[in-house]
Amino acid sequence: MHRSIYIETYGCQMNFADTEIVNGILREQGYELASEVDSADAIFMNTCAIRDNAEQRIYGRLSNFEHLKKRNPHLVVGILGCMAERLRANLLENNSLVDIVCGPDEYRKLPALIDQAFEGEKGIRTQLSRVETYDDIVPLRTDGISAWLSVMRGCDKFCTYCVVPYTRGRERSRSLEGVVQEVGGLIERGFREVTLLGQNVNSYIDGENDFADLLIAVADVDPGLRVRFTTSHPQDMSDRLIEAIAGHENICSYIHLPFQSGSDRILELMNRTYTRDHYLNLVRKIRTAIPDVALSTDVIAGFPTETEEEHAETLSLMEEVRFDGAFMFKYSPREKTRAWKMGDDIPEDVKGRRLEEIIDLQRRISYDINKNWIGRTEHILLEGPSKRSEDEWMGRTGTNKTVIVPRGDFSVGDTIAVRINSATSATLFGTEITNAASEAA
Ligand code: 5AD
Ligand code: SF4
Repeated sequence: MHRSIYIETYGCQMNFADTEIVNGILREQGYELASEVDSADAIFMNTCAIRDNAEQRIYGRLSNFEHLKKRNPHLVVGILGCMAERLRANLLENNSLVDIVCGPDEYRKLPALIDQAFEGEKGIRTQLSRVETYDDIVPLRTDGISAWLSVMRGCDKFCTYCVVPYTRGRERSRSLEGVVQEVGGLIERGFREVTLLGQNVNSYIDGENDFADLLIAVADVDPGLRVRFTTSHPQDMSDRLIEAIAGHENICSYIHLPFQSGSDRILELMNRTYTRDHYLNLVRKIRTAIPDVALSTDVIAGFPTETEEEHAETLSLMEEVRFDGAFMFKYSPREKTRAWKMGDDIPEDVKGRRLEEIIDLQRRISYDINKNWIGRTEHILLEGPSKRSEDEWMGRTGTNKTVIVPRGDFSVGDTIAVRINSATSATLFGTEITNAASEAA
């Protein structure tokens, strides 16, 4: 009898891509993948440890499995991903529900761990690797339009607030040929868009080939394929990479470029390796080379010792750059990191207020930018029904903006020309332009 496994995924896109790798490994070993938690013989959570609230959410969900285990004492529960790596044996010791703890570089050991667990033996594997890239594993993806593909793992930047270097280990890259081959396979299966992933994707390196080479190689596989990538560190945003984006129609004009803080003193404390001026110059250079580029970012409110003036510098940088979008966070102290030792001196209510100010400002800017799109014609790739209604499709522009259109006669995977009619801070709304109309226009 084949046992069935259910995996829930939390956190960043790397985790979603990892779950597909885990599914690939498990399927190869003859396990079935359960579509519902209730019918599974083993339940896994692929977890995130980046901020405390991410972990609290996972503990909350874990406690939901208690009743399932009461009903079926043979049920196996496992923790994968960054929390497994961060908490290791503590997860087994402090939680009788957990049978397996397996870190991000040990997924090849999962079949053995699962077999043992079904024999009643708990197991833990959390060794980090300098070489594991799962290059030879075929991730198990459901057919679709858009695929995530991790091309490098780990992070060597050691930003002082960040737990990732400790949970995902050192940087290592997959082979360029391996990535190109996988992309070819995805195109044959009907995928129309790939997003190359890495915690620090633009520090990708395979022999002589850097990330610009990889991006070009992937874009050249098929000019009809949309190519995206995330996340980029400002330090590794080379001129060649900017040229590659500017010079290839099918590399999307969209860059996620975290700035984290607008204050030089805080950037230094964060070990970000650039100043406010460096960052602003980089943005100028990118905008000169790629005039239609959309930029998004990550920002942290309330880093240890951040003053009101320094917080105001974060706001002023946002006003200056005018990002299309942002992921905005309250600082959360993480054990093991260097910032952990700096204390957590900004009171919760001050952090909350600063974050609110950041969010309000970004919302205003996003709305202003999106309003300017009204009347424009854009090509969007249809990804599926909109959240609101089956009668509408959701698609995205090359610049990563979500556009809602009436369903019409289109199918998922079609690229259509759309006139933008209205906008909110998060979404554009449009109608399709028929060929005749767009030619006339
Ligand atoms: N507290 C708050 N935000 C954090 N990030 C990373 N670590 C922390 C932390 N300890 C944010 C950064 C990073 C994004 C993925 O998460 O902005 O770019
Ligand atoms: Fe964390 Fe910095 Fe690495 Fe990003 S670059 S994963 S924020 S250490």
